[in-house]
Amino acid sequence: SLSPVEQLKRQAAERAGALVRSGMKLGLGTGSTAAHFVDCLGEKVRDGLDVVCVPTSERTRLQAEGWAIRLTTLDEIPELDLTVDGADEFDPALRMIKGGGGALLREKIVAASSKRMVVITDPSKEVARLGKFKLPVEADLFGLTATAHKIARAAKAHGCSGPVVLRKTTSGERFLTDGGNAIFDCDFGSIPDADALAAALNAIPGVIEHGLFIGMATAVIIADPAGIRVLGD
Ligand code: A5P
Repeated sequence: SLSPVEQLKRQAAERAGALVRSGMKLGLGTGSTAAHFVDCLGEKVRDGLDVVCVPTSERTRLQAEGWAIRLTTLDEIPELDLTVDGADEFDPALRMIKGGGGALLREKIVAASSKRMVVITDPSKEVARLGKFKLPVEADLFGLTATAHKIARAAKAHGCSGPVVLRKTTSGERFLTDGGNAIFDCDFGSIPDADALAAALNAIPGVIEHGLFIGMATAVIIADPAGIRVLGD
């Protein structure tokens, strides 16, 4: 039996599942909410749905393999019909912070290769302005401290300040992404100009990607205790 918040995530996932048709090429997101979607999809595949999917993490790949969901890569299929993923935070303009689970680079590549990106969430992720959740920034291991300084400087130039902290695993090791990179969790607080900050972070050579997803989500499905709400289309 699922906890109340897991039930909401499952409801959002089921609503997204209703968008899937046989023949579709899908991107599979990462995180606890996206995992509910993979389970929904797995049940449909078991019942005969024919789809082919690109996972955004090794974790999601393993889960999809467990359901015998047919998997491919963006090298085989460069354009997908629909990606379904979770988010750590979203604002009324459907801008998001992602990467709490460390999969932001592949998530962004897959979302950018999809005609539609549907985000599934519970209401706890909804904010008026981004920045409550620490912004994940993925960085190359070479020159990490220099890169951290540049991130802090770029943030300051766009009205943000706060600790830029290297992510560690629970056992105290440096956290590494599926691509073998580090993550900085940036405690900037409220971000006054997410678009400008995103551009500034992209201009730093050691930054591989950041967790600001702007202009990517086409819809957000929010499973509220009072019912399902959909932003976008
Ligand atoms: C993974 O890197 C993230 O972008 C996830 O999409 C995000 O952390 C949402 O995860 P939950 O659904 O577990 O909150």
